[in-house]
Amino acid sequence: MTATTQLADARISVRHVRKTFDLKGEEFVALGDVSLDVADNEFVTVVGPSGCGKSTLMNILAGLDMPSSGEALVDGDAVTGPGPERGVIFQQYALFPWLTVRKNVEFGLKTAGLNAKDRREKAEHFIDMVGLGQFADALPKMLSGGMKQRCAIARAYAVNPSILLMDEPFGALDALTRVKLQEQLLDTWSRDKRTVVFITHDVDEAVYLANRVVVMAARPGRIFEIVDVDLPYPRTEEMRLSPEFAALRNRVWNAVYHQNP
Ligand SMILES: Nc1ncnc2c1ncn2[C@@H]1O[C@H](COP(=O)(O)OP(=O)(O)O)[C@@H](O)[C@H]1O
Ligand SMILES: [Mg+2]
Repeated sequence: MTATTQLADARISVRHVRKTFDLKGEEFVALGDVSLDVADNEFVTVVGPSGCGKSTLMNILAGLDMPSSGEALVDGDAVTGPGPERGVIFQQYALFPWLTVRKNVEFGLKTAGLNAKDRREKAEHFIDMVGLGQFADALPKMLSGGMKQRCAIARAYAVNPSILLMDEPFGALDALTRVKLQEQLLDTWSRDKRTVVFITHDVDEAVYLANRVVVMAARPGRIFEIVDVDLPYPRTEEMRLSPEFAALRNRVWNAVYHQNP
């Protein structure tokens, strides 16, 4: 059982991060002492019970919140705010409702200073990649939840972040849509590798996607166990039914649901 790992070539390093909130004058420890390294192009999933600090950790990596002590580093530099090398995707789709799929995807590219023609081409590429080509001119309200999330993924990918931070991105979707998006995400990642930190409360999803599964525990939020997933990519539906997958799922399941305080 490993609770921490240190890698020589880490893209992301979380070092003794502690995060406390003031709860009516009492100190509430959301993250105890979390240390974690993520390698370049690694796909790491983080799974754990509700309230164990997953989103708190994500917000710190995204630069939307600061640790109370310890630090988060990206490429060796302390994270002090959001940065273009980190794309963030949340459970709530966070699309601009008044912009079409195309304009939503183009939005970040405008900020990045691309001209209209380049924006259009790049947006088209990523909209096609997530299979929304037919809906490029539709408004978000015309799309299903799964399509909205694909749009959010296209938008995040388009600005070309080398790190993708995803906080329960498929959490609000039905099981079938979720499985499809998992496959699509892995397919995209295989063709165009990124460093991914993907938070979920779904054990199956955590194992299916990851190189490594980080299991967190609550009170205080901490890393409980890290499970290596030695299954090859591409991951397939048959793999989900294999004894190897079942063994890994059971191991992660036990770590999540039978945590001793
Ligand atoms: N801004 C905040 N103020 C006070 N408590 C917070 C705040 N953000 C999170 N918490 C608390 O910290 C704990 C961890 O929250 P969170 O990171 O959202 O957990 P998870 O994403 O694993 O469900 C929870 O008990 C939550 O209530
Ligand atoms: Mg959360």
